[in-house]
Amino acid sequence: MGPDAIEERVSKIAVSFGSERYRVLLGEGLLKQIGVYVRRRLARQACAIITDGNVARLFHKRVRESLMSAGFKPTLFAIPAGEKSKTLKQAGTICDRMIAAGLDRQSFVIGLGGGVVGDISGFVAAIYCRGIPHIQIPTTLLAMVDSSIGGKTGVDTRAGKNLIGAFHHPSLVIDDLDVLKTLPRRDFNQGFAEVIKHAIIADAKMFKKLQSWKENDSLALQQLVRRNIQVKSKIVAEDACDRTGGRALLNFGHTVGHAIERAGDYRKFLHGEAVSLGIVVACAISIKRAGLPPGQRDAVVDLLQRFDLPIRLPPDFPREKIFNALKFDKKFENGKIRFIVSPRIGAARVANNVTLSDIREGVAVL
Ligand SMILES: NC(=O)c1ccc[n+]([C@@H]2O[C@H](COP(=O)([O-])OP(=O)(O)OC[C@H]3O[C@@H](n4cnc5c(N)ncnc54)[C@H](O)[C@@H]3O)[C@@H](O)[C@H]2O)c1
Ligand SMILES: [Zn+2]
Repeated sequence: MGPDAIEERVSKIAVSFGSERYRVLLGEGLLKQIGVYVRRRLARQACAIITDGNVARLFHKRVRESLMSAGFKPTLFAIPAGEKSKTLKQAGTICDRMIAAGLDRQSFVIGLGGGVVGDISGFVAAIYCRGIPHIQIPTTLLAMVDSSIGGKTGVDTRAGKNLIGAFHHPSLVIDDLDVLKTLPRRDFNQGFAEVIKHAIIADAKMFKKLQSWKENDSLALQQLVRRNIQVKSKIVAEDACDRTGGRALLNFGHTVGHAIERAGDYRKFLHGEAVSLGIVVACAISIKRAGLPPGQRDAVVDLLQRFDLPIRLPPDFPREKIFNALKFDKKFENGKIRFIVSPRIGAARVANNVTLSDIREGVAVL
């Protein structure tokens, strides 16, 4: 297929957050054309490709060749795969190596990988020479539908996840759906937790579509990713810096989800799996505090199960650790809980009347 034929099948989504405007390109076979797409956006030459070991093995060669044939000079910086690499120390090491490689203010960063790579490469781009452009090439479903959109970048510390970071929007996001073919099933499915979250908080029609989801329908997948980018960017656009509360809606299922992730030492559950459990609790609390019809909670639980996402904790899971972990949550402001509830599928709001004992009750049924 020649470049023109490929071009026709690329879907372009314009996103804007205040003065920040950029495009998400979405389609199949885009990695081979990366150089062309980036060239249209940036007149620079030197760039850092930040990626992880797994992704480097799979896609680095293709990306590098395409970039070089468009006149770019890429240098590879690969970190070990996994959340453990998302640290300030690792970000510092990458910066030092970039300096040693002669990358300056005229260079830019390409983040090629899942959410971990997206977050740390975006953070490096935000601080390197006080900020250089960032191009996101997400390679997991979760990164395409969630982490690559919205400009939040950062790293974890021992005290909690994403406690250090910066807002730094990418200049361009390129989603090549072909890359998802090598994604392990568990990683693919966890992306659906965020998709289902978006459907619950903002799009009842998407929820219906998911209920009759068929695997291997690439057109449906493209439409789904597109719709999720629109949902997330619309919510973010209304509250780009996470100040007025609108963006908080995206935390549906995350208050408890993050606590479960932490209680499992970030090893037991993937982010999306912990969010799936958090969604189950958020639905239970929504029945009590927002009038969510119990039948709709059941529909949510069914849908999560359809994508092999957990809806129960293992019986031996140390539940008390979940409550200890809750206090690290950034949403607990001055001891008050800003909990996101859904009154019906397709809508969400912040509730100030949710108590810790509501959360305990909710976790007890997991
Ligand atoms: N910035 C945000 O707004 C935001 C939002 C949601 C989540 N996040 C962050 O995203 C991270 C989770 O992202 P993730 O789930 O993508 O994890 P990840 O980046 O660790 O990727 C998961 C695994 O899949 C591998 N992988 C990636 N792409 C692959 C491919 N195409 N084929 C085969 N293997 C591949 C990776 O090497 C890794 O082992 C967390 O750190 C979370 O905090 C950030
Ligand atoms: Zn999430």
